[in-house]
Amino acid sequence: MNQELIEKARQFYVQTVEQELNLNFEKNMYFRFRQLESICNVLKNDFDIEKINFLETGTSQNFADACFGVFFGFLVRETNGKFYTVDIDGDRIEKSKKIFEKYLPDLNAKFYTEDSVNLCKNTPMTFNLVHLDSWDFDLKNPFPSALHGWKEFETLQNKIEDGGIVFVDDNFMGGSWIQWNWYNEIGEVVGYEKIDVDYPIIGKGAHVYDYPKYDKDWELIGDHYVRGENIKIIVKKNCKR
Ligand SMILES: C[S@@+](CC[C@H](N)C(=O)[O-])C[C@H]1O[C@@H](n2cnc3c(N)ncnc32)[C@H](O)[C@@H]1O
Repeated sequence: MNQELIEKARQFYVQTVEQELNLNFEKNMYFRFRQLESICNVLKNDFDIEKINFLETGTSQNFADACFGVFFGFLVRETNGKFYTVDIDGDRIEKSKKIFEKYLPDLNAKFYTEDSVNLCKNTPMTFNLVHLDSWDFDLKNPFPSALHGWKEFETLQNKIEDGGIVFVDDNFMGGSWIQWNWYNEIGEVVGYEKIDVDYPIIGKGAHVYDYPKYDKDWELIGDHYVRGENIKIIVKKNCKR
């Protein structure tokens, strides 16, 4: 994909996040910006499609959660593509509309309030970039979000165009530990616990990570699969061989 465009989208996203969040530490200390680098790298090296049709499950509505839809939305607008986002919570969809009206008012966007698996199953659309980020990951019970992430992927996989890429958020590789914070009602950290990751991988994309081993139409891409860090699983649908 056009390197200059990716760089513009990266800068737009970083500036927007900095405007919205009071980041009182170095940029490279923020794991969301490290995730951003992984995304930009695969788009530069592994993505060849010029007009982006994008879907996000779990809508971008709060910059504390990253709002990666803003980064992808910039690419969609610049390539005259289409942007779809779905969330089960109608209030969050309203907040998301406000963010996109403010930062990307001329984006060709559609907002859906429903269960994301339902939408993935029933949509007649096809996509070439997808960000799966709905059912919240719970380190103390990681299986429901992994199952939900898998159901989204499974129902969508035939609707992904050849050369398309799927990102799945919130994953941790095994053989390390995670600091799991407890928050009060106003979002302050009031305590934490160290939790060992004993499985090879846990997260929303745990099953998607393994899938390319069984289906050669899919490839795991990126070189960011490090321990001890919240990472995105990134898979690419290759042209049928
Ligand atoms: C982590 S947030 C999404 C963050 C967003 N993608 C971003 O980059 O800022 C997860 C969202 O998923 C939504 N969600 C949870 N279960 C869902 C489901 N079954 N279907 C659709 N959305 C769901 C929640 O309401 C919440 O808004």
